[in-house]
Amino acid sequence: MQNLTATTVPEHVAIIMDGNGRWANARGLPRTMGHRKGVETVRAAVKTAGELGIRYLTLFAFSSENWSRPAAEVSDLMGLLKTFIRRDLADLHRENVRIRVIGDRSNLRGDILPLLVEAEETTRANTGITLVIAFNYGARDEMTRAMRHLAAEVAEGRLRPEDINPQRIAATLDTSGIPDPDLIIRTSGEERLSNFLLWQGAYSELIFVPELWPDFTRETFLAALEKYACRERRFGGVSEPTLAVGS
Ligand code: FPP
Repeated sequence: MQNLTATTVPEHVAIIMDGNGRWANARGLPRTMGHRKGVETVRAAVKTAGELGIRYLTLFAFSSENWSRPAAEVSDLMGLLKTFIRRDLADLHRENVRIRVIGDRSNLRGDILPLLVEAEETTRANTGITLVIAFNYGARDEMTRAMRHLAAEVAEGRLRPEDINPQRIAATLDTSGIPDPDLIIRTSGEERLSNFLLWQGAYSELIFVPELWPDFTRETFLAALEKYACRERRFGGVSEPTLAVGS
């Protein structure tokens, strides 16, 4: 952990948890077993992130495109998320974790929405790490909903088009109030963003690790953070020494 200090630990890490299915297939197990093992990894990752002082951890739990998976797998993923909240909410609350959920809530059926709302309400005043669960989330969908909202405000005469700026758009997204991710990690060796945090990730560092999500250990996490700590972030500008000379 040579390079990890309070100043190099990112404030916000977002993770695309990929590879549960392949992890299960490699063991001759049904895909659902991969997701089950993936939940254990979720628990460990939240713990590690909290210990390291990461303030926000966003996990891509279910995308708006995941509904196209076989019904049994969708149902299993829903069941796992519900069980996670039912079983872990008390522990997370005790550990001062604040939960936020991003994604489209408008068409959620059954008891999933009340559970997500309960998790947010119960932990609202907590001051530890914020666990952001991206559920029924897709960045294009999020941006479409935000644009509709702003267009409606304009149509009602409550907003002038010229007052729409990046800050206003950011405040209309599901992630309102949450800083942009400093680092986005994707597991399983796939190297794409898959409609995840497309607005918020404009300047995020991207790290792709070969490990499948169920194999994402504390050591894998630390190695990714060390790699991040060695990156130079310029946000479209120039590196700091040059800035100092010119300023
Ligand atoms: C990707 O693996 C993983 C998912 C689509 C779901 C991730 C969900 C969990 C880990 C469990 C629930 C989450 C929480 C927060 C409790 P994949 O199935 O696409 O794997 P593959 O690419 O190998 O097929």
